[in-house]
Amino acid sequence: MDNKSYQDHFFKRAKIEGYRSRSAFKLIELDNKFKFLKNGIKLLDLGSYPGGWCQVVLKKIKKVKILGIDKKKVEKISGAEFIMGDFLDKKSQKLIIEYFGSKVDVILSDMAANTTGSKSLDSIRTNELCFNVLNFSKEILNKKGTVISKVFMGDDFKEIKYGAKKNFKKTDFFKPNSSRDESREIYIHCSGLST
Ligand SMILES: C[S@@+](CC[C@H](N)C(=O)[O-])C[C@H]1O[C@@H](n2cnc3c(N)ncnc32)[C@H](O)[C@@H]1O
Repeated sequence: MDNKSYQDHFFKRAKIEGYRSRSAFKLIELDNKFKFLKNGIKLLDLGSYPGGWCQVVLKKIKKVKILGIDKKKVEKISGAEFIMGDFLDKKSQKLIIEYFGSKVDVILSDMAANTTGSKSLDSIRTNELCFNVLNFSKEILNKKGTVISKVFMGDDFKEIKYGAKKNFKKTDFFKPNSSRDESREIYIHCSGLST
């Protein structure tokens, strides 16, 4: 599918199915592959604007405690709570920990740094976010929990792979069909903290 047809296809599907973003289909594919969305879980959604991933979670499972955070304001979605802020800010991380009051089962991150025009710089900045997600997970994730995070195939990809393997029992990478071929984006799936 060329880029234009790709955009049109997922844009139309998102509209028909009532999702706020085309990214929703990436989470559906990720869960079909790794099966981490289960009734009753506590789930943190990093980079949640405009809310497509939260919609998928709420549609798919029951009794989920879900918190989203984004620099941008997410319009209300019944069943989810949102914090508007920068995840890298320690104050936001404190609010997340306070909100759950205990460990979480799933951490999702679709965070992407703003594009600068330099592909290499963009991937370094987005991968920096991924490093931070993996670090934060050591603090707040259940021992048997799951992390899914966007990663860019860039110079520091190997370091992410190495860091994840050190901290988690199982790590995999997956590129959903709904992610554009020409995009360097891929998702890392980590489960079971090693320490
Ligand atoms: C691709 S969008 C997420 C789409 C979302 N998964 C959905 O389905 O609607 C990436 C988001 O990451 C957010 N973001 C990037 N850096 C962030 C940070 N440091 N803290 C919080 N949000 C961040 C951006 O504001 C942007 O809204």
